Amino acid sequence: MGLGDATRHDRIAGELATVGWSVCTDFLPPVQIAALADELRARWVEGAFHQAGVGGGAHPHLRPEIRSDRVYWLEDAAQTPAQAPYFAALEALRLAINRQLFLGLFGFEGHMAVYPPGSFYTRHLDQFHGVAYRKVSAILYLNDRWQPNDGGQLRLYLDGNDAGNSIDVPPCGGTLACFLSDRFYHEVLPATRERLSVTGWFRVRE
Ligand code: OGA
Ligand code: MN
Repeated sequence: MGLGDATRHDRIAGELATVGWSVCTDFLPPVQIAALADELRARWVEGAFHQAGVGGGAHPHLRPEIRSDRVYWLEDAAQTPAQAPYFAALEALRLAINRQLFLGLFGFEGHMAVYPPGSFYTRHLDQFHGVAYRKVSAILYLNDRWQPNDGGQLRLYLDGNDAGNSIDVPPCGGTLACFLSDRFYHEVLPATRERLSVTGWFRVRE
C-alpha cells in the first residue's frame, strides 16, 4: 500500500521545514503523469512553447548560454483535465507547507518545460531580481523509463553557493523535487534524450 496523500504532503513539508528540500518519487500516479506528458506533447506540436528567458519580471532575456529549455506557461484559471490532479495536489501541499513553515504561500505559478537533447540550465537560484515572491520551487518530472545514462539530472547544491556538496535527482516520471527558492542553487545537466517537466513556484503576495 502506498502512502496516503496527506502523509506524503506532510512529509514533504516536514523536510522543507527541517532541511529545506525534499524529493518525492511518487508524487502523482503514472496514469496522471502520462496524461500530463501527452498534453505537453500536444502543446509542443501546436507550437505553444517558446525559448525560456532569464531574469524575472515582464522582460526576461534570452540567454541560451545559461538555459536552453523551452517553456509553456500554465494558467491556473484555465486548468485542463490533465492538469487538474496536479493543481489539486499542489494546493494540498501548499496548505501542508503553510501549516509547518508559516510562509504564507498563497498561490502557484508554473510552466511546462522541454529540454531538447543536449540542453541545460546552468547553476542558479530561482529567487533572482524581480521574482522575490517565489518562496518554494517545485518540479514534477514526466519522463517514462528514464535511465541513469540518459543524464538530465537536477543537481541540487546543499551548501549555498559552495559547489562541494550536492545531490543529483534523476528526472523520472512521478518524481517531485522541491526546495526553498532563496537558498538552494541548482542546475540541470544535459540529457541525451528529450526531458519533460512541469516547473513552478509557490509564491507570496508581492
Ligand atoms: C528552473 C529549473 C530544474 C529542473 O526551471 O528554474 O531550475 O530540474 N528547473 O527542471
Ligand atoms: Mn531553477
